[in-house]
Amino acid sequence: MGRLEGKVALVTGAGSGIGAAAAARFAAEGAAIAGLDVAKPADEAWAAIEASAPGAIFREADVRDEAAVSAAVAACVEEFGHIDVLVNAAGVVGFGSAHTLEVEEFDRVVDINLKGSFIVAKHALASMIERQSGSIIHIASVEGLEGISGQLAYNASKGGVVLMTKNMALDYSPMGIRVNCICPGGVETAMTAMLNTEGLKAIGDKLRSYHPMGRFARPEEIASAALFLATDESSFVTGSSLLVDGGYTAGHRMNLD
Ligand SMILES: NC(=O)c1ccc[n+]([C@@H]2O[C@H](COP(=O)([O-])OP(=O)(O)OC[C@H]3O[C@@H](n4cnc5c(N)ncnc54)[C@H](O)[C@@H]3O)[C@@H](O)[C@H]2O)c1
Repeated sequence: MGRLEGKVALVTGAGSGIGAAAAARFAAEGAAIAGLDVAKPADEAWAAIEASAPGAIFREADVRDEAAVSAAVAACVEEFGHIDVLVNAAGVVGFGSAHTLEVEEFDRVVDINLKGSFIVAKHALASMIERQSGSIIHIASVEGLEGISGQLAYNASKGGVVLMTKNMALDYSPMGIRVNCICPGGVETAMTAMLNTEGLKAIGDKLRSYHPMGRFARPEEIASAALFLATDESSFVTGSSLLVDGGYTAGHRMNLD
């Protein structure tokens, strides 16, 4: 029997990377899947999810668009009856320092990563509150815990997600709803694919070397952490920021030994 048998999971960013890996893993563990993304998943990827989770539904929606999110959540509840688990994995990266960053770009990154996660949670919560049960998993980042130069809006958005997680844990613990976030280090997804191009490979190699394990994560490794937070195996875990970063934030290696 799968670890999510009988559960319903709504996954944003299900079209790619971490969201797609979470949807696939949750499906393989028996969950019914409702995916949401601005971009359609690749046919083969979605077919694999449907093979494990027959009747899986996908909605094209922008997490910044409250009406579209509300409709997607309603479609999920209509199809499956309720929502047990929300994974907020939709997100974008953005670059720029305070004096160079256009206000519109700041808004784009913060609106998708932070406000979008709030909007989806706001609507998914109605079903969870009704059942006094649920698990919300935001995908934050190590960059929500420490700074990285030249990524002001991304840092601000992910720092906001970490604190939003704590706030929501406080508000919804009495209602049986746990709220946690995952803080991945680098992950090999479309978001980091630019670091494999010729012009940026040196930066990619440097960033990978900042992870003591010497590599980025595979999206499936983040999905495994999400699975833990989705199941009752994490029944006493709420308000936490789970590091899945290959040691990125552990400290500095000085090679003094
Ligand atoms: N890849 C990394 O190194 C890394 C590290 C830490 C945290 N994260 C976070 O993990 C999450 C998933 O990123 P990923 O690495 O899988 O990237 P990805 O680009 O592979 O996937 C992100 C998905 O979000 C979707 N999306 C973007 N804007 C959207 C919007 N407005 N509404 C709905 N969907 C939208 C995209 O279409 C895409 O399918 C993001 O929040 C990201 O910040 C990624």
